This record gives sequence, C-alpha cells and structure tokens, in this order.
Amino acid sequence: MTDLSGKHILLGVSGGIAAYKIPNLVRLFKKSGAEVQVVMTQSAAQFVSPLTLATLSGRSALTEIFPDATNTQSAWTTHIHLGEWADCFVLAPATASTIAKLANGYSDDMLSVCFLTMRPNKPKLIFPSMDGEMFDAPAVQRNLKTLEQDGCVIVEPEIGELASGLIGKGRLPEPEKIFERVVEALLPKEKTLAGKQVVVTAGATREKIDSVRFISNYSSGKMGFALAAVAAELGAEVILITGKTHLQTPPNVHRIEVESAEEMFRETQRYFPTLDLFVAAAAVADYRPAEVYAGKLKKSSESLPLHLVKNPDILLEFGKQKKPHQVSIGFALEIQDALENAKAKLVLKNCDIIALNLAQEAGAGFEVDTNRLTLIFRDGTIEQLPLQTKRAAAKMIFKKANFFFQKSSLTSL
Ligand code: C5P
Repeated sequence: MTDLSGKHILLGVSGGIAAYKIPNLVRLFKKSGAEVQVVMTQSAAQFVSPLTLATLSGRSALTEIFPDATNTQSAWTTHIHLGEWADCFVLAPATASTIAKLANGYSDDMLSVCFLTMRPNKPKLIFPSMDGEMFDAPAVQRNLKTLEQDGCVIVEPEIGELASGLIGKGRLPEPEKIFERVVEALLPKEKTLAGKQVVVTAGATREKIDSVRFISNYSSGKMGFALAAVAAELGAEVILITGKTHLQTPPNVHRIEVESAEEMFRETQRYFPTLDLFVAAAAVADYRPAEVYAGKLKKSSESLPLHLVKNPDILLEFGKQKKPHQVSIGFALEIQDALENAKAKLVLKNCDIIALNLAQEAGAGFEVDTNRLTLIFRDGTIEQLPLQTKRAAAKMIFKKANFFFQKSSLTSL
C-alpha cells in the first residue's frame, strides 16, 4: 500500500446512500498513514454515523459550524485551521446539493465553509454520486463545470446499478479507487511520457451485416481508456482510436471514433510514421461479412449462411513497418495455451510487450474495472502483475514502456 504518512486529508461527506462506503475509505487512509479529518453534512449523518467515522479516523467528525459552548476543545475558527492543515480536500459522495453549494460559494454548513478555506494550490477532488438522471441534469453539469474551472478534479461516477434499482451513471467508485485517485493527487507526478506521441486503440469494432445489424464482441473499452488517461497524465500527446462506447473522453486526449476494423486501421495507419508508442488494446474483429446487405435482411429462409473475410490486423501491419525507436504493446485475451499463444503473437506482430489476460478469470478482461495481466517481453521475460484497477495496470505498463525508451536513447548515444 502507498505510504501517505504525514499527509492530511480533509474528507467531506455529503448525504447520499453511497456514504456507506466511506468508513472503508477512512480505514484505507488511516492504514496508509494519513491523518483524516471528516466534515459531514447533516444529511450525511442520516446515512453514516459521525461516531463510526470519528472512531475510524481518530478525530471527531465535524458537522456543525458553531462550536459546542460546553466543549472548550472546539473553537469558532476550526475551519480556518483545517483549510491550512489539509494537503487535500476530498468530497465523497458529492450530492447535487453540496455540489451546487460549493460551485456557488455557499458557506452555510461546516463542509462548505471548510471547502472555501482550502489553500488554492491544494488538490480538491469531487466524487459525484447520484441517480443517473440527476447527474445528467443541466444544472448539475453546469455546477460541476464551474468547480472544474475553479481547479477541482471531478471524478466521473461509474455506470451500474443505482440505489433506485435503475441502471445508470452515478455510482460512487469503490473505496480502493477513490484512495488511488487521492494518492495520485497527493504524490508528485513525473511527466515520463512528455514529448512522446502515444496512439491507443480501444473498444470493440462493429462489422456490418446489413444496415441495422452488426457482429461485435463484449469489449467495453475500459482498458484502452485507462491507458489513454494515464498516458495523457504522464505528459504524452495521446490519440485514442476507439470503437463505439459511452465512456467519457479522458482530459487532454484526442478521441477518434470508428466503427469497423477497416476504419480503425485507416485512422491508426495515419500515425504509423510519427508515433512513439502504439498500444493496441482494442478487441478488433478478426473477420467481417464479405458483403454488407443494403437495407434490412428479411427472415425468409430457415438458415442464412454468412460468408466472412479476414480483417486487416492493425498491430501486425504496424509491426511490419516499425522503426527501431518505436515501441508497440499488444493485448492478448486467451482461453487455452495462453502463454504459448501470447508468446507467438509477440513474435508474429513484432511487439515489445504482450499483455495477456485470461478470459475466464474473475475480475479480469471484458467490462470489469479491474484486470490481472501477465506481461511478456521480447527477451522471454514474464512478469505477473497483481489484480488491480485498469488505471493501476496502465501505470505499470507505461513504466515498462519507458524502460524501452530509455534503452533506445542509450543505444543512440
Ligand atoms: O491475434 P489477436 O487478435 O489475439 O491479437 C490481439 C492483439 O492484436 C491486440 O493487441 C489487438 O488490439 C491487436 N489486433 C489488431 N488488429 C486486429 C486484431 C488484433 O490490432 N485485426
């Protein structure tokens, strides 16, 4: 676990059902060595008890601006000191109401007062969590934009089952993920990919059968989007060439949306001469229907033979023309003879690293937010990465890629 000893976290909790996750978040912060001061709204106290948070954090959870006159420990100026004390402000869950308050400079409860006293150069992370319709409401989006302009980092909620029973965008990320984002905000970032052009392919392609149907696969694009986000944070110029997905474009990433493998190939190929690092995370369909029926196929006969032809292999084509300074990373999703197949792929496609994941493994592969990758290198070295978030896996992959860049700059000396 990352060591956050000596770091002071001011943790704002507002009143959403996702507040039930916060005791675990406080435990993670404490385990890492950080000091945590909880400030919560009155409605947050309906969902999670201040006593629970106080016990876990080792500090009383503040809910009131006005001090208890009988308690000589509390003082009217507590909030001013907290703004000075905190290395980071985290609001999780952030409800529509608290977001609106913070965006408009309200200071009518302890949480909003503390937010206003935060020093300007300190990171402020907001984790919105609410029903999907509420999250999309223009007023909420407008307020979030205002907070972003004011220098806050808005961490998008996740898509999934919500407390209402509806499926939508609004879930608070799990405590481990919130912790990871706070660590990133608190520890200095090295711009290890500054000056590099990184091209990432992501998601599934769609191969048309007729005007309304296509062949595709279960890839969500999450691994590719995590790679693009992290590469941009590391200072790279990032081009993300993606199949259709609802995922939000990460900051400072140039997104190009495509449908078919051929289209993805055409768009990617344009960058072959200039890119420094090619990460092929897309699940590209190997075959496409030989002919696309114009209009809608009718169900007139008992069977319908579908003749498929091979698609271009983007990674393989890049491998054929790769220059010595260029680095390529492929992904392999295997079911049987995984290692052998992945090693063969590395040679065939002339890549520097193959990241292997096993299709049937729980918590890895399509659609989930975590992954357990095995990295296979050109020299035959194999490295097993732990089960971790796709962001964390992306970071480890770029650390390795960086090693190739350092090597090529040494050989060119
Ligand atoms: O051969 P296989 O599809 O298993 O190889 C997977 C790797 O090759 C992935 O990195 C994938 O993005 C890439 N690939 C590609 N173009 C294809 C098929 C796969 O770039 N047509």
